[in-house]
Amino acid sequence: MTDRTLSLTGRDLVSVLDFDKRELETIFRMADSMQRFTRKCRNQLKDDVMSTIFFEPSTRTRLSFETAMHRLGGSVIGFAEPGISSVAKGETLADTIRMVESYSDVIVLRHKIEGSAKFAADIAGVPVVNGGDGSQHHPSQTLTDLYTIRKEFGKIDGSNILLMGDLNHTRSASSLAYGLGHYRGITLSLVSPESLRMRPEVTDYLDRKGVKYEEAEDPSNFIDNADVIYVTRLQKERFSDPKQVEALKGSYVLTKDLLKLARKNAIVLHHLPRLEEIPLEVDYTRNARYFEQAANGVPVRMAFLYLSVHRSKYRPAKKRQLTSNTSDTRRCSNSNCISNQPREPIAPSLNEVTSKGKQVFQCEYCGRYTK
Ligand code: NCD
Repeated sequence: MTDRTLSLTGRDLVSVLDFDKRELETIFRMADSMQRFTRKCRNQLKDDVMSTIFFEPSTRTRLSFETAMHRLGGSVIGFAEPGISSVAKGETLADTIRMVESYSDVIVLRHKIEGSAKFAADIAGVPVVNGGDGSQHHPSQTLTDLYTIRKEFGKIDGSNILLMGDLNHTRSASSLAYGLGHYRGITLSLVSPESLRMRPEVTDYLDRKGVKYEEAEDPSNFIDNADVIYVTRLQKERFSDPKQVEALKGSYVLTKDLLKLARKNAIVLHHLPRLEEIPLEVDYTRNARYFEQAANGVPVRMAFLYLSVHRSKYRPAKKRQLTSNTSDTRRCSNSNCISNQPREPIAPSLNEVTSKGKQVFQCEYCGRYTK
């Protein structure tokens, strides 16, 4: 095995911000060594059970976690359709987690409610992995993305990254921006239609970390400088008005002609699934790497599961005391935040922070600023 000096045993993966650069490197080095075992069972987690509880659709995240666990010799339980679980009968997320933690050694959760993975991690005595919560975090995707960049260029520091598309709603995009904050000399071009710009809590984070970024609508002014062109899907399920989706459809496309302006060795990434933002013809260019990126998800997830779950003990002491959600203190204004789900036993928690010189409140769970 590689780096033994840093132990990640028992760690949750709620946000990429839970890890520092050295810890990320530990995961990547472990992923390098796992790469050799993606077709062979290592049996390192043969007595462990992973539960995947997915309240939103998924192909890559769930299947690559399940593959990773199987490759490590462990077993998998769970559901990908909440309609078949007791959630359909009205069970709270808190109760679901308290049951599932007693059946498994690690929980991978995907939910449309923001902050749900943090809440689950507060409750569970086993490691919790955030498989995506609303538009906020998608840390295992970010580990995969950073690992892919590191594998292609031998480093992440100093990269010029063009992030393109629905930067407002795509959790892979905000999560990647958070992850890049760990690295030095990063330049980010945030290219999107005006209404799909990166949210202020993310750009404030970039400012605090000293990451250089520009926001623009036209990729052609930035593409020639990019090492990585990361394209995202229009997250139509996150819009309340279908007319807005219609108006934005096709508003950004990485065509083969646009790609001709890019450096020869630039790589094109996409979290997938892609819609019309990357036409099929781009798949056959020297730059396309999105299927390799998806494949890297297996060794990366194997690495995290191995590092976190192997020898990890059930730790009920980690549990936060649940409290009824009746607090009349100031609340988060995001109706899609876990702290605003009336039946979940959670007290809202807001921190005062500075944004562009003004004092604002930021929710501890969903990370959004409160109006
Ligand atoms: C995405 C997700 O669900 O966040 N897919 C993924 O996990 N690779 C992206 C998407 O749905 O657009």
